[in-house]
Amino acid sequence: MTNVEHIGIAVKSLEASNALFTKLLNTPPYKSETVASEGVTTSFFRVNQTKIELLEATDPGSPIAKFLEKKGEGIHHIAYEVSDIRAEMERLRGEGFTLLSETPKRGADNKLVCFLHPKTTNGVLVELCQEITD
Ligand code: CO
Repeated sequence: MTNVEHIGIAVKSLEASNALFTKLLNTPPYKSETVASEGVTTSFFRVNQTKIELLEATDPGSPIAKFLEKKGEGIHHIAYEVSDIRAEMERLRGEGFTLLSETPKRGADNKLVCFLHPKTTNGVLVELCQEITD
């Protein structure tokens, strides 16, 4: 793992939180993107090397909607950048971590992603992400 690529924050309203984070960080989001397969709309802010990803549910059955229901708004995941996601998944599987997908999935912001189950990571949902370069 090279660096913390982004921190994901679950929000009820992307519109309200975009305005809030624009004031907080003194910069507007540089992109907004819907990932239909995850039932989520995201927006991204840049804080030097690290990004903040705001996540709003697009439907009541999505994982973000369930998270908001259970825990309310707040930090949802921490994403680490990796250079070879498949190798890193294999390594972590060998170390006993539970991966939430067998193969990398296409995530927001032009990334291949894989999540680790929070029960094996001290309650913190961990995302591995690798930039898609093609
Ligand atoms: Co993320």
